[in-house]
Amino acid sequence: MTVDTKPTFTIYYGTFVNPVSISDLEYVVTGAIGVNDKSGTIEFVERNVSSVDQVLADKASLLVQYTVNVISNTDKQASFFFPGFFDTHIHAPQYPNCGIFGKSTLLDWLETYTFPLESSLSNIDKAKFVYNKVIDRTLRSGTTTASYYATVHVGATKALADVALERGQRAFVGRVCMTQNSPDYYCDASEEAAQAADLEVIDYVTGLDPTRERVAPILTPRFAPSCTPATMKWMGQVMHERDLACQTHLSENVKEIAWVKELFPENDSYTDVYDKAGILGKRTILAHCVHLSDTEVATIKARGSGISHCPTSNSSITSGEAPMRRYLDAGVKCSLGTDLSGGYAPSVLEVARQALLVSRHVAMKSSRGDADKLSVAEVLCLGTIGGAQVCEMADQLGSFEVGKKWDAQLIDLEVENSPVDVFEWQEPRIGEGGEDLNRLENLVAKWLFGGDDRNVSRVWVDGRQVIGSK
Ligand code: GUN
Ligand code: ZN
Repeated sequence: MTVDTKPTFTIYYGTFVNPVSISDLEYVVTGAIGVNDKSGTIEFVERNVSSVDQVLADKASLLVQYTVNVISNTDKQASFFFPGFFDTHIHAPQYPNCGIFGKSTLLDWLETYTFPLESSLSNIDKAKFVYNKVIDRTLRSGTTTASYYATVHVGATKALADVALERGQRAFVGRVCMTQNSPDYYCDASEEAAQAADLEVIDYVTGLDPTRERVAPILTPRFAPSCTPATMKWMGQVMHERDLACQTHLSENVKEIAWVKELFPENDSYTDVYDKAGILGKRTILAHCVHLSDTEVATIKARGSGISHCPTSNSSITSGEAPMRRYLDAGVKCSLGTDLSGGYAPSVLEVARQALLVSRHVAMKSSRGDADKLSVAEVLCLGTIGGAQVCEMADQLGSFEVGKKWDAQLIDLEVENSPVDVFEWQEPRIGEGGEDLNRLENLVAKWLFGGDDRNVSRVWVDGRQVIGSK
């Protein structure tokens, strides 16, 4: 008996939609993307393809080297491959509280709902249970990379990194640092204890994946009010010494901003607090940024830091409307975050939808009108290539390009129980090899506004399928 020991290669054949910049989607009705399964890397992207046989004939040399599999979506009219989503701001321990926020705003919401729940995840079994649930839910919603806040607990934070690695979701994992102005029952014991705890988690996560491609540590000062200046300065040093990512909240709510002014009177602005501490780097993710001055935007741009726009959260806990067009025009890297559970939805698709709607509210109040509106393509780019840029991973992720990783979702609008109805005159393949790109563009708009996780039929990370039947 002979055993086929050739490595495998997969050709993803059919319709794909591809973010090619921070504002544009490319629509391909019949194409082919070739992926080396061992490395998970895209080796070719073909646009004008007439049949899978033509692709196999053109790539005949592959058949010698590899066992070639074909995964096709051409049996469906309303189905397309799309890059996996980036959720650049999500609190894993807050997942059980999705939807529970009443009429609260940030500071009372933290005291009433959030700190008690996070504190209860000192129980490691409970933490693992919650973390499995949130990773399962976000993966099924098409999120292939997430930047997670855990809790202050070292053990539970390590567990979050373990679960992400086991489940195959790319993740930044941060222990939340809280060295002042926090409840007695939920805070770091001292600055020294916080530093030791952070280093322990950073070393542990780095040990899990020294390449930092699958799981990576991220410094996580909760927000300026809950960290002493000395703690933030120490983080700035460690960030530079170890070339680490960093994430925090910035300028989310007006009362919070007033509190920061009171706590840090010597600083020019909220952004200046972080800047003087040295934690604004090119791998720093700043969540919310609802109420920034032009000077603050210029500082963020100069440091190369990125913004995580969290519109679901900003509407839910009444923080405001982030002026995303202003930030994009200023050339700041921008992305989307669910901000569970300030945000109620674990799906980046829902956040993209809300980003589009909130931009309409910004437009209604502004003299610039339509210029402030974000398009369907723009919000989907924020959720993919924008996330990759903010995480400084755009050389590897965020779109379908030769040399990038196959982190992808297969969207199927015709699945049983689909929340979206597609009509015959909306189908992009129009017979005799004809194609209608406008119809495909409209299908993507229907997906954005009507779709949900029922339409995510398969998800891959690094070329490996992590969701869906094979
Ligand atoms: N600011 C400080 N902590 C939090 C949090 O957990 N969620 C949000 N949305 N803002 C914060
Ligand atoms: Zn948050």
